[in-house]
Amino acid sequence: MPDHQNEIILITCASGKQSSALIPHLIPHYPHLRLQCHSSPSAATLSENYPKAEIVQADLANKDDCTRILKNVTAAFLVLPPFHPHESQLGINFIDACNAQEDAGGPFQHLVYSSVIHPILRKLLNHDVKRYVEEYLIESGLDYTILQPTHIMEMLPLAKLLKDEKPMYPCNWNPATKFSFVTTKDIGQAAAKVLMQRDAHFAATYQLVSTPKPLSYVEACGIVSKVLGKEVQVQQKSFEDAVENTIKMINGGKEPPKQMKEIGARMFLYYNERGLVGNCNVLKWLLERETTGCEEWVRTRVGEIEKSKAS
Ligand SMILES: NC(=O)c1ccc[n+]([C@@H]2O[C@H](COP(=O)([O-])OP(=O)(O)OC[C@H]3O[C@@H](n4cnc5c(N)ncnc54)[C@H](OP(=O)(O)O)[C@@H]3O)[C@@H](O)[C@H]2O)c1
Repeated sequence: MPDHQNEIILITCASGKQSSALIPHLIPHYPHLRLQCHSSPSAATLSENYPKAEIVQADLANKDDCTRILKNVTAAFLVLPPFHPHESQLGINFIDACNAQEDAGGPFQHLVYSSVIHPILRKLLNHDVKRYVEEYLIESGLDYTILQPTHIMEMLPLAKLLKDEKPMYPCNWNPATKFSFVTTKDIGQAAAKVLMQRDAHFAATYQLVSTPKPLSYVEACGIVSKVLGKEVQVQQKSFEDAVENTIKMINGGKEPPKQMKEIGARMFLYYNERGLVGNCNVLKWLLERETTGCEEWVRTRVGEIEKSKAS
């Protein structure tokens, strides 16, 4: 049985979408949570939100940082920064650091890696990079679990659509292609279960999909329109606009490195033609409940946004 009271659990990319949904499930059970982020503003926010947790700033591209943040850690949740030009190497460095800690007599027991659905898709560079990390992890000798989330539903800017009088969703690809979506609520609960139950999930790979049927952005925005009671238009951006502006936004408003643009450009082209589709059976089994559908997600989020405005 895992000794929750004395173990240090490391959560990487703790300010990001996935880890933010996981941390609240762990807080009541683990007195020693170590939360990693990259920037000072995120460190300040994490300190304010989780005053009892240990906040560490680290660059996952730096091997010494990986060694430092893994000191005395028993289990880690690894998310890699999006569109990083050296993402595979970051994952490999982190796995090496876990192995080194364990080999040196450290307490390391479990690495939960949040990868992506279908990492075998070579045309999607941001999926392909995770394939190498999965392979390295499987062969590392570490006890591991791989989670494979699909397209995250929170990418839909619901707060803005709710606020705008004539809401319009600018889509970076053909809005008619189909996606299976996952909510961060479902990712957070699934990851918490895997971390807390530990050895029951060793050597497993779980696809994380919430929506029972694939939906296009036109259909998803139709559901948003129904819930908000006003029509949400969907407009496809030009390919150039999507590559120039969306990737810059992901890079914090700064001009992105060339490789980052290439990763985004390939993704938009792929989504234009094929979308991204999976199956919710595994997540339903893991959560022991129905996964969150699109309409349920929209209703819950709208309720949360309105509650936060009122307080
Ligand atoms: N979006 C999707 O639909 C989707 C679906 C499946 C998988 N994924 C994968 O999920 C991962 C991203 O997870 P997320 O969406 O939860 O994160 P996110 O919301 O995009 O946040 C990015 C995180 O990365 C951290 N970060 C940035 N550069 C870093 C560096 N050099 N070293 C360490 N940390 C760094 C940021 O820290 P600061 O806040 O301090 O900058 C932040 O915590 C990516 O690998 C992506 O491919 C995304």
